[in-house]
Order: sequence, then structure tokens, then C-alpha cells
Amino acid sequence: MHLQLDGRGPLHAQLTRALKGAMFAGRVGHGARLPPTRLLARDLGVSRNTVLAAYEQLRAEGFLDGRVGSGSYVTPPLQAMRQVNAQPTWIEPQSAYARRLRTIHDHEKVPGARSPMVRYAFQYGAPLTNPALSTAWARELSHAAAYARPGYPMTQGVPALREAVCDYLARRRGIQTKPADVLIVNGTQQALSLTSRILFDEGAEVAIEEPQYFAAREVLQSNGAQLCPIPVDDNGLVTDALPARTPKLICVTPSHQFPSGAVMSLSRRLSLLDYAERRGSWIFEDDYDGEFRYGSKPIAALRSLDEHDRVIYVGSFSKALFPALRMGYLIMPAPLRSDFIAAKWMEDFGSAAIEQAALANFIQDGGFERHLRRSAKTLEERRCALLEGLRACSKGRLAIADSRAGMHIVVWLTGRSRAEGEALIAHAVGHGLGLHPIAPYYLAPPDRAGLLMGFASLSVLEIEEAVQVFARCLDEMFPVSAKPRLQRRARAPAMPAAARGSRG
Ligand SMILES: Cc1ncc(COP(=O)(O)O)c(C=O)c1O
Repeated sequence: MHLQLDGRGPLHAQLTRALKGAMFAGRVGHGARLPPTRLLARDLGVSRNTVLAAYEQLRAEGFLDGRVGSGSYVTPPLQAMRQVNAQPTWIEPQSAYARRLRTIHDHEKVPGARSPMVRYAFQYGAPLTNPALSTAWARELSHAAAYARPGYPMTQGVPALREAVCDYLARRRGIQTKPADVLIVNGTQQALSLTSRILFDEGAEVAIEEPQYFAAREVLQSNGAQLCPIPVDDNGLVTDALPARTPKLICVTPSHQFPSGAVMSLSRRLSLLDYAERRGSWIFEDDYDGEFRYGSKPIAALRSLDEHDRVIYVGSFSKALFPALRMGYLIMPAPLRSDFIAAKWMEDFGSAAIEQAALANFIQDGGFERHLRRSAKTLEERRCALLEGLRACSKGRLAIADSRAGMHIVVWLTGRSRAEGEALIAHAVGHGLGLHPIAPYYLAPPDRAGLLMGFASLSVLEIEEAVQVFARCLDEMFPVSAKPRLQRRARAPAMPAAARGSRG
């Protein structure tokens, strides 16, 4: 039986949805017998308990008539069939914002949102899971739940957390700031959303890096920004390419350009700050994974060089801890402080106080930095395993951009077009391997095959196995003897050497 799992939520829930989908599509009709749990589990590469749980759920909802020992038979209730088949009524977007959302955002196309069910997925954004962290976090949370005040939180954030963030930033990112300048937010996503609303109106020019973080791009577009893509090279954002028409906001990832991995040089940082000061632009510094560097020195944040208060610095706990936390911090330039706090109040009154109290304690008692040290070691091992495996299977077919930081590696398929890259990705799914294209991270993607390979969530052993599958797919699609058809364009898109990659 062919079932496509949608990659959202627990496996048993995905399987339940897929089976219902097959019933509604008429692929398994009334009275049909579902495959035995052991068989289906083997076909899908999931545990038998997953299949048992899905069958049990379908039985509880009346979709299956289970006769113990004699199999499970389909009996979809008519009422449910009618509800699922009913099309939602289409209406015009009710606001300019909703109209923009409909043109910009397609939830199905969010990278990774509808990843097929595969055995190994090099999924960027999937977290490093760590049982020691789960135990420590559960302890902090239960302690905070017992002692934190249950009233509405302070809009700006729990004072203990803002203090802990200031200590941390002084120690690790070279930023001297005070709790009064810190705003606790629900991740970088909210930080950029608040920034957009208080800094510009529909039609404003906003400069972004090309390539860029797709979620940042969409938040800006949803707020009506006219995006002005600025190329990136080995030294980060090419400041000479900043537009003649002053952008209201310039969004950058100077410590580890996303996704190319370039680090912005000191002279570019100074030139960007100078441009912002002279022109009156604001800078949004997204320092999303500054904690994890491998053999390269941590770079002080752009904000630490900012003498004119033009930089809105944002850090996130999504990489340092886990993204489900939805917690980050924003350092507010003094003239914008009251606007930011008012916007945060309008949004949600303040971030969840119990999580903030737990996090403050976790940072203050040293648990957070212990976790960072442990994670950096684990990530380094995973990254080395991936790099080693890719170099071994490359045979001149891959250009690997190793930026010596973060949780992902960019890999280009030498001389292959974007369509050839898509074909490799589709081929890999058939072998149980999830690969992800780099194209969604460009406003105007180049016609080259590139992959963004996240390595945080796979163990060293899984990475080694996954790379073997990758090597097999490469050999089947692009045998070493076959010359790539794509010739170098006369005018190739500007790309940092880190993004061009070293030949593996
Ligand atoms: C470039 C970039 N910025 C920020 C984030 C984190 O966003 P958030 O804090 O909203 O989880 C990510 C996560 O993947 C990222 O890749």
C-alpha cells in the first residue's frame, strides 16, 4: 500500500492521517482489509507500535472495524466522509496584510514543512536532542512553575532573565548592555515582526542579504517591505552594493551569514555602521548561531562596534537550546525602546513568564554554558563525520562550503543545474534519504544545484550511513565518468567562495 506521510507531528498521527486520506480518496474502499501491522511497519520503516497506535486511533474514531486475530477492515463513517470532502469556502483576503500573506506564504512550501517520511533527513532547523538537557530543563521548569508569580509577566521580560542575558552577552559576544535595553521575545521571528512594524510602512525599502533566511524574507514582505537584495561574498554583505536609495532597514547575519557561512570582515562591519549612521538606516543583526564555532574564533557582534545606536541586536535560544522554546532577546536602541515595549505589549503582553524564570535560573546556575560546551563537542563530531563522508564520495562532483560554524553545510553539485539537483533530491527520497535544496533561500535562485545539509539531529553513525546512501544516489544519478552538461555561465551570480565551496 503506498502511503505518503506528511512529516508533521508524531509518526502515528501522520500515519493515521495518511490512512484516512487513502480512505477518502477511495484507494482503500469500504470493507477493505488493511495490511497486517507487522507488514505495514516493515514497508514504511516505522515501528510496529506506531502502526498499532494509528490503527487503534482509527478504530476509536469508527474508521476501522477490528476483529482481533482476523485483521482490520475499513468502515469509514458517512458523516466523517462528508465533513472531510467538504471544500472550505473561499473568500477574498480581508485586509492588505492578508492579501500579502496569500501571495508570499505557502505553508506547504516552507522548507522542511512537508518533508517525505525518510529514514535519514539532513533537515536544517531540526534540533540537537540531548537527554541531559531534557532532564535539566524539566527540573528548571517544575521549579519555576512552583515559584514564579502567576500574574501577567512584565512586558519587557522577567528581570532575572534580562540580567542573565546581559552577563552572557558581555562574556560571549562582547556586547555591553543593561537589562533596561533588553526585550525578551518569542524568537527571532517575533523580533523581526516587531521591528518591521515599528520601523517601516508598506512600500519601504529594506535591504537583505542574497541569499537569505527565507522566514526573515517573508516577515519583511508580509509587512509590505520592498526588498533590495545585496550580494554576499567571502567577507559577508558587499557594503559597496548598498543601494543609492536609503533603505529604512538592513537585515544581516554578520557572524555567520545564512546560509553561505561567510563571516563579515571588520572593514565591512565598520563600513556598514558608517552607512547606517550617515543615512539614518537601522540595522537588524540576526546572531542566530554565534555560539557554535569549530576551530575558528568567536567574532564579536556588530552591535559591540555600534557607537551610534543604530543596531537592533537579536539572539535566539532556538539553536543554543531548542526551537520549541520560542525564546529570544532583542537589544533595543535607546530611541526605539518605548516603541518596542509598546509593540510587544500589543502583541502578547509579554513572553511566557514560567519559561523565562526557568531559563534565567538555567543560565545563572551554569547549566546553559555546560550544555553549550557539550553541544559544541557533539556538533563538531557530527560535522566532521559529514564533511569526511562528503569528501570521500565527492570524486570531483561536489563543492563543499565549510564555514566552520553553526549546524549546516552548503554543498554544490559541480556543474549541475537546479533541475538536476531536484532530480537527485527526488531520487534520494526513494532511497530513504531527505535532502534539501538551497534555492528557497534566494530571492532569485541561481541555476545551480545546491543543497543545505543540516547535521544537528543525526548521530555520527546515522550520518555515516546517510552519507553512504547519498554516495549511492550520486553514483546512480551522476556517475563519475559522466561530464556535467551545465557549462559555467559567462556571468555567474555573485557568490562567496564559502558558498562556491572548496572542491571536495
Ligand atoms: C538565519 C536564522 N535566523 C534565526 C533563526 C531562529 O529563528 P527563531 O529564533 O525564530 O527560532 C534561524 C533558525 O533556523 C535562522 O536560520
